[in-house]
Amino acid sequence: MAERETLTATFKEGLEDIVAATSSICFIDGVQGRLIYRGYDIRDLARYSTFEETVYLLWNGVLPTRSQLDEISSQLIENRAIPDSLYAILRSAPKSAHPMSILRSGVSQLALTDPDAEDSSFEANKRKSLRLVAKIPTIIAAFHRYRKGLTPVAPSASLRHAGNFLYMLSGSRPEKRDERIFDVCLILHADHEFNASTFAARVTAATLSDMYSAVTSAIGALKGPLHGGANEQVMKMLLAIGEPSRAESHVRAELSAKRKIPGFGHRVYKTEDPRATILREIAHELGQRGGDSRWFDISKRIERIMKEEKQLYPNVDFYSASVYYQLGIPIDLFTPIFALSRISGWTAHILEQYAHNRLIRPLSEYTGPLDLEYAPVEKRM
Ligand code: COA
Repeated sequence: MAERETLTATFKEGLEDIVAATSSICFIDGVQGRLIYRGYDIRDLARYSTFEETVYLLWNGVLPTRSQLDEISSQLIENRAIPDSLYAILRSAPKSAHPMSILRSGVSQLALTDPDAEDSSFEANKRKSLRLVAKIPTIIAAFHRYRKGLTPVAPSASLRHAGNFLYMLSGSRPEKRDERIFDVCLILHADHEFNASTFAARVTAATLSDMYSAVTSAIGALKGPLHGGANEQVMKMLLAIGEPSRAESHVRAELSAKRKIPGFGHRVYKTEDPRATILREIAHELGQRGGDSRWFDISKRIERIMKEEKQLYPNVDFYSASVYYQLGIPIDLFTPIFALSRISGWTAHILEQYAHNRLIRPLSEYTGPLDLEYAPVEKRM
């Protein structure tokens, strides 16, 4: 057998701790449990900012002035409509399709009607970013209404991004406090450095493929239960447990069967995910307000056992699940909602990738054979 040439490359499974590029968008301090967007702590953004302002910040690197904020807010409102051809696709799609698959297909369809689809200039890419952020909520809400046998609700120009989505979903204007809670959820999910879906978007963008292709790559990556799909799994688990008294036995049985508990663990955080801290408070507040703290109590018990047994902390998906559930959002829309927010971060990263592009092309450590002798098909055993 011929000698294998050895490369002086480092192999880290899952690219753990590998720095793949420079970026000025988002910083995670996994030891201290801090998350920073463009220099601003997520806790301050959750307390004082809005999703619209956060989108502006991610795209432009600075907080907007009043007139810049007004402008981006009106542009988002103006771009909420989706083409009739897309409504037709959503209406005829199988009702049983997963909404993430619908979103992936919907975004692909949007590309077909976008006049800027193949224009890769910076200005065209910014216009596409805006359209994607504005239209994704309309796609998700319209599909949900069709599958329930209802007519889609047209976007409301008098509601901001968060409130408008809740309105398009249910057909009634949300309470102010629910609107603000959902707005905070969108801020918390907007970006997270080189997470799997953002990285997928950047890999596609780095081939100089178009923005829609990069975003569909990201949607596909987000859908998985090890990434954005975990929030859906968390709620299914809470429902299966049903009562706080059953939480401990469920978690212990899962752990002894070597199964993972959704909503726990993280590749980067070695302590509590700061988004989970904020979402825990919201989940608690919603439970108290609704007079039913069952989901919160079950969650707290799971959290305690996971800390004791595995020294693992909840991640963003753990408490967001019961928050969305208590806001009346259907479980299979939890991950599309993640995308509805993360599209802001994805597009910021795609713009950054195009601005300083280099093809992303790692190596694999080959573990297969070499120098096998080719046998014609008739001679194979
Ligand atoms: N439940 C139980 N054990 C877990 C766990 C979980 N949620 N997350 C990690 N672990 C354990 C693993 O079993 C492994 O233990 P071992 O060393 O004894 O085999 C160890 O912790 C390291 O886990 P690993 O899967 O290798 O870490 P990772 O960095 O590759 O994965 C996640 C990170 C997020 C994919 C992982 O924690 C996970 O699958 N979590 C559940 C899904 C989830 O919530 N995803 C959303 C992330 S925001």
